[in-house]
Amino acid sequence: MCFRSFAILCMLALALDAELQTITVTGITVCHRRRVADVRIELWERDTMDADDLLLEVRSNATGDFTMTGSQDEYGSIAPYIIIYHECDAKPNCQRVAEYDVPADKIGSTYDMTYISMNIFVKGEKDQCP
Ligand SMILES: *[C@@H]1O[C@H](CO)[C@@H](O)[C@H](O)[C@H]1NC(C)=O
Repeated sequence: MCFRSFAILCMLALALDAELQTITVTGITVCHRRRVADVRIELWERDTMDADDLLLEVRSNATGDFTMTGSQDEYGSIAPYIIIYHECDAKPNCQRVAEYDVPADKIGSTYDMTYISMNIFVKGEKDQCP
């Protein structure tokens, strides 16, 4: 009996703890100092308990600029990251798939990545070939 009401209290506490958290990521996609237009960028949120969530997808504009704002209800802190799909120095007919983590202290504000040199190899990146 006692244990049961305690469990309900715990669940209530967790529900109250979930809060909407927002992150804005902005930057310019660059390949060997040249701005690259129409690059696909996805904003993801890492979940430890189940699959990661895709929050949104944008493409860089004609000058390579992009900005994206995503939010999610989560217990504790969200762990956002972006994935960039691009052809800068990619193998023929392939895309490079590179992940960039958003620093925890940027959550609730804007992470300005300024110039993203896509030619630079990112740890753990993959090739996507047909
Ligand atoms: C691309 O986005 C940037 C930043 O928002 C903006 O300053 C620029 O005018 C845009 N360029 C074009 C061609 O839309």
